[in-house]
Amino acid sequence: MAFVGAPSSCKLPGLQGGTPFKLSSLPCPVLKARQLEQRRGRCWSKICAVAVANEKSRPNLVNLTYDLGDDATKTDDKWTKPIRVAVSGAAGQISNHLLFMLASGGVFGPNQPIVLQLLGSERSINAIEGVSMELEDSLYPLLREIKIGIDPGMVFEDADWALLIGAKPRSKGMERADLLEVNGQVFAQQGRALNEVANPDVKVVVVGNPCNTNALIAMKNAPRVPPKNFSALTRLDENRAKCQLAFKAGVFFDTVTRVAVWGNHSTTQVPDWVNAQIAGSPASDIIKDDAWFKEEFTPKVATRGARVIEKWGKSSGASTAGSIADHIRSLVRPTPEGDCFSMAVATEGNPYGIAEGLVFSMPCRSNGDGNYEVVPDFVIDDWLRDKIKASEQELIRERDCVSHLIGLEGASCSITEDTMLPGEN
Ligand code: LMR
Repeated sequence: MAFVGAPSSCKLPGLQGGTPFKLSSLPCPVLKARQLEQRRGRCWSKICAVAVANEKSRPNLVNLTYDLGDDATKTDDKWTKPIRVAVSGAAGQISNHLLFMLASGGVFGPNQPIVLQLLGSERSINAIEGVSMELEDSLYPLLREIKIGIDPGMVFEDADWALLIGAKPRSKGMERADLLEVNGQVFAQQGRALNEVANPDVKVVVVGNPCNTNALIAMKNAPRVPPKNFSALTRLDENRAKCQLAFKAGVFFDTVTRVAVWGNHSTTQVPDWVNAQIAGSPASDIIKDDAWFKEEFTPKVATRGARVIEKWGKSSGASTAGSIADHIRSLVRPTPEGDCFSMAVATEGNPYGIAEGLVFSMPCRSNGDGNYEVVPDFVIDDWLRDKIKASEQELIRERDCVSHLIGLEGASCSITEDTMLPGEN
């Protein structure tokens, strides 16, 4: 992986405003790396960083590119073409777990080389450089390149996947509508950047809260990307539900299947015990306790985030990262026959009569090609219907508050404090 010989006449192109260049594509890597090292102090032993100054002379994008010789993809016969995975909020604790899972092959598989494109802010860019150094030190063979920066228009370039994790948490005194607005602006900007520079078939997974509405905003600002390519994370809620069902039934969690979470990733979410199965039988035939399902299980799953914060002092990091990995794996591997996975997706054409124009969690399945369909045969009883309706209403209210960011006319914001994230008390 060391830089190979280069003629001494090799000249380094000047740092050009806003135009990233990659060492792997330059003809004289050794000398350029050394010159850059002198200039920016950012070259390390195996990875070299190219800093590109923007018009205000701030480092805007750093490109850490392994020198892979003539053929950047071929080091193992089984390996496929590298995929580009953009991650926002890359300095946060969710990413700190996720990035290492991605780089190790634990998400996309052991034959899938990966390029990580990490988005941060001016405040976090040093921390992201630190994370990149840790990734380097971990010697992951599949990790082919790391690109870091603060401009989504550069960092999302050619991305095949975009994992939008970064979002501002609600601060003291901030109204719910303010949170929607402040994060909405961020996701509108990121949607536009994806529209302009990402792979037009980029798969976008929104994690930053409020994730359903943020996903809707990103989707509406990226008309070039199919709406079906956007999803928001409710797999964490599904995993929490499976865990509670398994504990209650005294079984291992892998016998718990068909667990859908409906609606918003908020306290109105509906973890569906009606259709859930344990060892192939209805969960309600195994756990014969409707009161437990309604009064304990449902609120416990919906407020699990708050309980984690109470105990741990911070919001879920490792389990969120694990559930993002599960979410992606569910899209790149076929869903077992009869099972489903939960994710929030566009409601257009959904088989359950949920209002269109929302991003709503539903039971999905995939044939493993990155796409999905909504599973159509879940039974919706009166209890589920009422709960689903409440979550739908909440999402409609959230949408009304961001109407100016998604090109909707005439809506007005009437969000009330009963709209809570799982982590809010
Ligand atoms: C979680 O479910 O743990 C998080 O979404 C918590 C939150 O509300 O940010």
